[in-house]
Amino acid sequence: MSLSRLQVTDFRCLQSAQIDLDRRFTLISGPNASGKTSLLEAIYVLGRGRSFRTRRLEHLIRHGKERFVVFGEVDTAHRRVNVGVEGSRAGIRARIDGDTPPSLAELALQLPVQIIDPEVHHLIEEGPARRRRFLDWGTFHVEQSFVGHWRRYQQALRQRNAALKKRQPRSVVSVWDTDLVRSGELLSDARARYVSALSPSAKLIGEKLLGMELALSYRAGWSKELTLPEALNQSWNHDVEAGATQIGPHRAELAIRLDGAAVKDRVSRGQQKLLAAALLIAQIRLFPDDSAVQPSLLLDDPAAELDDDRLAGLIHEVSSDAVQLIVTTLHGEFAAFGQPGRCYTVAAGSIEPADVSRGT
Ligand SMILES: Nc1ncnc2c1ncn2[C@@H]1O[C@H](COP(=O)(O)OP(=O)(O)OP(=O)(O)O)[C@@H](O)[C@H]1O
Ligand SMILES: [Mg+2]
Repeated sequence: MSLSRLQVTDFRCLQSAQIDLDRRFTLISGPNASGKTSLLEAIYVLGRGRSFRTRRLEHLIRHGKERFVVFGEVDTAHRRVNVGVEGSRAGIRARIDGDTPPSLAELALQLPVQIIDPEVHHLIEEGPARRRRFLDWGTFHVEQSFVGHWRRYQQALRQRNAALKKRQPRSVVSVWDTDLVRSGELLSDARARYVSALSPSAKLIGEKLLGMELALSYRAGWSKELTLPEALNQSWNHDVEAGATQIGPHRAELAIRLDGAAVKDRVSRGQQKLLAAALLIAQIRLFPDDSAVQPSLLLDDPAAELDDDRLAGLIHEVSSDAVQLIVTTLHGEFAAFGQPGRCYTVAAGSIEPADVSRGT
């Protein structure tokens, strides 16, 4: 079950737009700067509480306006859920069936959303923080207790770092170690289990999309030879020097190898895109079968950077009954995806339904 209706107000160039989405495949077409990516971004913000393009909330608010609102109806296996987000300079507020959820992470449970866009290669190219976010989103959907461990870890880390920064004595700094270690180990074990589960599927998809052997491994953020308390102990002088905790799950990395070599700086832009797509598709395939909602996969201009064969391979891999595809294209046709259930055209921030048969 999936996002069935979306209403957007004052989000980027979209003044007011409402669309119904197909359970399987919705196609959005329009010229450059018409608002296609903005529409996908609105869906992403609804499922994640943040954008994939910017950290600055004010960039999402239509010029001259005070706030944006995105509202969605999600059909789950059991019932219809209303989700909404409102963004203003004061921050972002979420609503689920009229109530304020305890955290934005709750949005992800109602609307699990993933995006493959022309910038997706950053997942490979950038530093480990982005890959940790990728891991954490996936781990959360497989083990929901993960978010609790994550929060406790972040809190203990913040407090410990604040004490280090104030040059407090070791007895004060280590007050936080018990919490840090307990939540850090749970968090790290959950991530490691997730990477083990993800690896076979990523390998298979990597082989199909890139024709190379894709291998994933989890690096916990401290030496494999040591337990977390031992590593903290060993790192003490570095921590004091830096005024911050130097080891731990906040330094973890998802290591990626292609045909046995580390990928960083070795693969072309197109290969980075396919590699990132392989990881994201593997993640969506790992989505629990018994989940009440199916994940929505947003594909923003999937043809960018890819030759026809690679694009056909990507489309083949993402097309599955268990995923809701929402795809944008510059041109009104995308035969390789098959018949879209719904089609829209975007022009200068306004969205109109289009003839479904144009999508074939
Ligand atoms: N906060 C904002 N308020 C109003 N307009 C905005 C805002 N932010 C961006 N825009 C404008 O929205 C327009 C649409 O941008 P968007 O990225 O959605 O286009 P697109 O259809 O994806 O284009 P392309 O095909 O080039 O990727 C752009 O002209 C941009 O300048
Ligand atoms: Mg765009």
